[in-house]
Amino acid sequence: MQSELRAKLLEAFSEANGEFISGQKISEYIGCSRTAVWKHIESLRKDGYELEGVRKLGYRITKKPDKISSNEIQLGLKTEYMGRNIFFEEIVDSTQKIAQNLAADGTPEGTIVVADMQSNGRGRMSRKWYSPSGTGIWMSMVIRPNIPVIDTPQLTLLTAVAVTQAIEEITPLHPNIKWPNDILLNNKKIVGILTELQAEADQVHAVIIGIGINVNQRTEDFPEELQSIATSLHRETGNTIERAKLIQAILLKFEQLYTLYISKGFLPIKLLWESYSISLKNELIARTLTGTIQGKAIGIDDNGVLLLEDNDKKIHRIYSADIEL
Ligand code: BTN
Repeated sequence: MQSELRAKLLEAFSEANGEFISGQKISEYIGCSRTAVWKHIESLRKDGYELEGVRKLGYRITKKPDKISSNEIQLGLKTEYMGRNIFFEEIVDSTQKIAQNLAADGTPEGTIVVADMQSNGRGRMSRKWYSPSGTGIWMSMVIRPNIPVIDTPQLTLLTAVAVTQAIEEITPLHPNIKWPNDILLNNKKIVGILTELQAEADQVHAVIIGIGINVNQRTEDFPEELQSIATSLHRETGNTIERAKLIQAILLKFEQLYTLYISKGFLPIKLLWESYSISLKNELIARTLTGTIQGKAIGIDDNGVLLLEDNDKKIHRIYSADIEL
């Protein structure tokens, strides 16, 4: 089905809020014949929508597939610029790689790349990021802040707050953030964030923020080695979550926090981040590329750098590490 017609049809059903709409009304709304309406309804069914058709009443959607597409993300999106330019593909090697190329070609701020599946998802510290089809959110966002390069880690913390708040809005869950950017539920990882830069010494050209969220995976969908350390929103709530709705909520939260950050600086974001953090005030082990440091997390500085106090009261500034609580 042509994508504008499908978008209009879905819009009509979404406005009807689960009530029936007559075939006549649909055909007027999307501007095509009753036969064409029937064909479009059949095509939605093929794509996993469940529709009830009752004579004299018309049709209503009883169940939506958890599908993501540009249409599903854009329909009902409340942002001004985040996600207004969408690149969606069913399968990519890594959304991060595509977003990097688009950023280098001058794509506007707010561009997002979303895929249903990644064959070569990338995590922090050159790790692989498991990104199967139909269950997760694999998304990269391009932003172009006019800030010093040294401040860019703040955006990772801002993103972690935005995703945490979006999860709180869409589900009854209350996740925590583990410095710098892991989002946890019951001590298991649910979200990973990877921030990459295109910059010169004194100018940021683009920040590419990759977000991976385990949404609808069941326990058995995770490889065995991940089952005890990773979880999904479905595992924690027992419910199937509409991925497109969660993406919309993340984009809106991100845009609101980013606007606040640009006008008021990092302090309000830092306070929010601290309120969700489980790293602070705790003893932890930081494994950096150059060694392991054990100590108490006494705070983050104004750049988002973790301050770790060891047994000799020496304070270490941790820029990048794996944290063990
Ligand atoms: C981490 O190691 O915790 C960060 C994981 C980031 C994964 C996301 S999924 C979307 C984007 N594309 C990638 O290849 N990686 C990021």
